[in-house]
Amino acid sequence: MSLLFSPFTLRGVTFPNRIVVAPMQMYKAGPDGVATDWHFQHLAKYAVGGIGTVMTEALIVHPIGRNTYGDLGIWSDDHIAPLRRIAEFVQAQGSLAAAQLHHAGPKSSRQRPWEGLGPLGEAEAAKGEPPWQPVSSSAAKTIEGWHQPRQMSVEDIQCLVADYGRGAARAAQAGFDVLDIHAAHGYLIHSFLSPVANFRNDAYGGDINGRMRFALEIAESVRANWPDDKPLFFRLSCVDWRPDLDTRSDGWTIEDSFTLSRELRARGVDLIDCSSGGIRAENSIMDFVKTRTKLKRGHQVPYAEAIRRELNMPTMAVGVILDGPQAEAILQAGRADLIAIGREVLTDPHWALHAAQALGDDVDWQRWPPSYGWWLELRDRIGVEG
Ligand SMILES: Cc1cc2nc3c(=O)[nH]c(=O)nc-3n(C[C@H](O)[C@H](O)[C@H](O)COP(=O)(O)O)c2cc1C
Repeated sequence: MSLLFSPFTLRGVTFPNRIVVAPMQMYKAGPDGVATDWHFQHLAKYAVGGIGTVMTEALIVHPIGRNTYGDLGIWSDDHIAPLRRIAEFVQAQGSLAAAQLHHAGPKSSRQRPWEGLGPLGEAEAAKGEPPWQPVSSSAAKTIEGWHQPRQMSVEDIQCLVADYGRGAARAAQAGFDVLDIHAAHGYLIHSFLSPVANFRNDAYGGDINGRMRFALEIAESVRANWPDDKPLFFRLSCVDWRPDLDTRSDGWTIEDSFTLSRELRARGVDLIDCSSGGIRAENSIMDFVKTRTKLKRGHQVPYAEAIRRELNMPTMAVGVILDGPQAEAILQAGRADLIAIGREVLTDPHWALHAAQALGDDVDWQRWPPSYGWWLELRDRIGVEG
């Protein structure tokens, strides 16, 4: 059997295979961040499609941290029931249900991607979606022309650390098996970590110890509110990639990620979810647009590999991993423990089942839900002419 389809255990949870749906915001929440049938069908089909772990999109821990009015929330108990419905369906298919906690920080108060991805303004206010002032580590804009964020006070920080804890408790109440904290892509936690974005001169800024403080307090708060037997992931931009400088070595570095990961592990984080970039762009993907850089297959795998080797700590690789053989080669080479797939599952919700066929791990459609597989196996047996 391939490694991709072998189980993996962290704490009391066994991942049925190594494939994870990458968190992907849909920007289609119902009123006040409630999950709808759109989210149900979006995530349900990946469990039907044999993906071992189905992760929700970013769930916002405080409404001021929404990217857009379409973001899903976990700041209220009203969010729990529709999320529980999704988690229960995913688990009934034999997959694990994972959730991601998030706060967009300086990138809050903006348009949905297909509406421009820019700051909310008068046109949106006229449609009932008025802008608000974002908060961030510092009063620094991510992009010229965006809203000026307000620098968070120490009291703001303490309240938000507690909000992350409450978000974790709600995720546990909704029945999720795995939790991921989004600290990447230039959003709030990353704005504290990166020297490119953090200009504070108090205990939450300055050297790496100061810049890491917020992330570590969040990890502690979440761990205290998340069951001991369930794994906790942390998504990092393992390096800053600044489109203005077109370099991956300036700002937050892979060595900084080693230091942070070590501290996170000491606070009960089990796996580093290894992404990159986004500190000066609308999102991590716009970095490529701005620098006119073509996507390279597995471009972030070196970060997952570096952290795994340096710390002997589990990692998840993500980013332009397109097919089963590519994913299998990453695992076989010991470069990561889990493989997250984003855009490619949008094109093919049965990505995992097709990967199993490509790797010789599914003969006769046995992995497919019988409602599909029985018919497909029969068609194969009959054969198709012409
Ligand atoms: C539609 C879409 C929404 C995304 N939303 C999130 C998100 O909610 N949280 C997050 O950490 N990353 C988000 N990302 C980034 C993905 O999780 C992933 O890291 C990225 O797409 C690279 O993987 P891929 O090449 O397999 O798509 C999003 C990406 C896409 C395409």
